[in-house]
Amino acid sequence: MFDLRYDPLDSLALAFQGIIRNFIGGYRMIGSLDLGLKDKVAIVAGGGAVGQGIGNGRAASILLAEAGVKVIVADRDEVLANNTVQMIKDRGGEALGIGGDLTQSNQCKKVVDFAISNWGRLDILDNNIGIASKLSVVDETEEHWDRVMDINLKPMFLMSKYAIPAMIDSGDGGSIVNISSISATRPKGLTVYSASKGAVISLSQAMAVDHGADGIRVNCILPGPVYTPMVYSPGMTDDHRSQRQNASLVQIEGEGWDIGKAVVYLSSNWARYITGHLMVVDGGCSLSAKPRG
Ligand SMILES: NC(=O)c1ccc[n+]([C@@H]2O[C@H](COP(=O)([O-])OP(=O)(O)OC[C@H]3O[C@@H](n4cnc5c(N)ncnc54)[C@H](O)[C@@H]3O)[C@@H](O)[C@H]2O)c1
Repeated sequence: MFDLRYDPLDSLALAFQGIIRNFIGGYRMIGSLDLGLKDKVAIVAGGGAVGQGIGNGRAASILLAEAGVKVIVADRDEVLANNTVQMIKDRGGEALGIGGDLTQSNQCKKVVDFAISNWGRLDILDNNIGIASKLSVVDETEEHWDRVMDINLKPMFLMSKYAIPAMIDSGDGGSIVNISSISATRPKGLTVYSASKGAVISLSQAMAVDHGADGIRVNCILPGPVYTPMVYSPGMTDDHRSQRQNASLVQIEGEGWDIGKAVVYLSSNWARYITGHLMVVDGGCSLSAKPRG
């Protein structure tokens, strides 16, 4: 005969056995939505943006800080970097700004040293710097080729050169996110820019291979058209803006936050099994036949 009387102590024992079984059997619940970013230290290279606008680097800086990361915002223009820092502080986050032309080796070293001297460790690097080009190889100048290659690639190389040893010393691996573009894989006439962003993809994958054994993950984001101060400040007509938006399969206009969220995800423990990955963040633009301006 079964004894159907309810005994609270039996229920407690059963619950406890269940928990133990789950731990032993490996069926443990993840238990929380914690991204594992609290008290990590990040550098965002190119984390400023014109005025109060939200560029990809500023968005990543603010969102990393909201996830509990201490953020060094580095930018050629220290005022722009400090604007981002103020936005983070206004939201209750921790950040420091630093100016420097990050095509220069000594400036990149200075930024990494700044992170270590202030917060004693380095875990995350968002290599966000990039400038555009417009022309074909026939019409492009040699000077602009050199400038685009210098600005779009050298800071990624130099910042990583100094950041990786600092991450290794910090003892908990690290995450590097390099910002490429869908223009690398689906060009639209920004030829030097496309070439530089293609090189960013190769650089990211080579770095992932080189430094995986050190626990350092290196991933690459390919944004589609994003409405950032860098693209709208020189002047963008409403028609051009609509064309960019309509190129998305879901008819969404990309914004800096979309790229910032991808940076946070790739930098977090949730992406611990992801390295050498190319993450396209473009609302489907690269699958659409529509021109994106
Ligand atoms: N906006 C888009 O539509 C789009 C699309 C695809 C890819 N991207 C890429 O996203 C990245 C960010 O673009 P964004 O439009 O968001 O710009 P952003 O608003 O993030 O601004 C970039 C920042 O980099 C800084 N910078 C430039 N050269 C520097 C240097 N030598 N040293 C230090 N700082 C420097 C600038 O001062 C600026 O504040 C770039 O790599 C860009 O190519 C942008």
